[in-house]
Amino acid sequence: MTQHPHAAAHAGVHAGHRLEEDLAQLLDLDAETSGPVLDEMTAWIAEQMPADPRAVVDLGAGTGTGSLALARRFPAAQVVAVDRSVVMLDHVRAAARGQGLEDRVQAVQADLDVAWPVVGAADLVWASSFLHEVADPGAVLAEVRDALRPSGLLVVVEMDALPRFLPDDIGLGRPGLESRCHRALADAGWNAHPDWRPLLEHAGFEVLAPRTVSTAASPAPSATARYAAAWFARMRPALQDRLAVEDLDVLDRLLARDAPEALLNRRDLGLRGSRTAWAARRP
Ligand SMILES: C[S@@+](CC[C@H](N)C(=O)[O-])C[C@H]1O[C@@H](n2cnc3c(N)ncnc32)[C@H](O)[C@@H]1O
Repeated sequence: MTQHPHAAAHAGVHAGHRLEEDLAQLLDLDAETSGPVLDEMTAWIAEQMPADPRAVVDLGAGTGTGSLALARRFPAAQVVAVDRSVVMLDHVRAAARGQGLEDRVQAVQADLDVAWPVVGAADLVWASSFLHEVADPGAVLAEVRDALRPSGLLVVVEMDALPRFLPDDIGLGRPGLESRCHRALADAGWNAHPDWRPLLEHAGFEVLAPRTVSTAASPAPSATARYAAAWFARMRPALQDRLAVEDLDVLDRLLARDAPEALLNRRDLGLRGSRTAWAARRP
């Protein structure tokens, strides 16, 4: 039976919305499990700023983790969270209300592949796990440079690799499953980003020393199992044609909610990862 075009379009919109809600949940779990990392990074930014920023812009803000951390760190600042997703921006507004920061955190919808939004002059621009997602990072960096006041700071953050949760041998299938998953996704371009320094310099920024912070936590935070399940659920569709059938079977057992060996019920999970931040000043 052929699906009516409107029904097909509606199903597509629904699936897209669902994917964005899943990503929002993943980002919130990321924030919950790696809290001290943001404290460390925003403290480092405060040291680099010539004066307390008044205007902060968070590009590709997601659920607003960075926006809110910066609003807390810099109490005199107005923060604009920019994202192309209305789903994400709803999360930003709700989180800002939840923390009593709605007067200082504004959510603005814009697709930065298309046009730079009206956000005014900025003292600080934050772009976390975002720059590698745009079609033309050089064009976005040129817009950022123009938006920053002289001596203003851009901070670009990226995950060095996908976060790891499992020991090498999980007692199911062949050891090394998580490494095989990450290798397959790297081949598919996941989290692919360069050392941003040359592009930042090309865009006219003076790059300060990059800083790498570990997101490893011991003992693992209580949300680690839910965070691991969210990551593996996100990875699973992309791995369908990239892993052996035996590995895919093990992944499905890890994702089955009620199985004793499922991620949500395991006792052998850890959390290992790191992020690098490049701080770049507009001369
Ligand atoms: C991986 S998430 C990172 C979210 C957040 N910065 C964090 O670190 O938790 C990337 C975000 O960038 C947004 N994004 C991707 N491409 C975009 C574009 N061209 N314009 C605006 N937002 C974009 C996505 O909607 C998503 O919310």
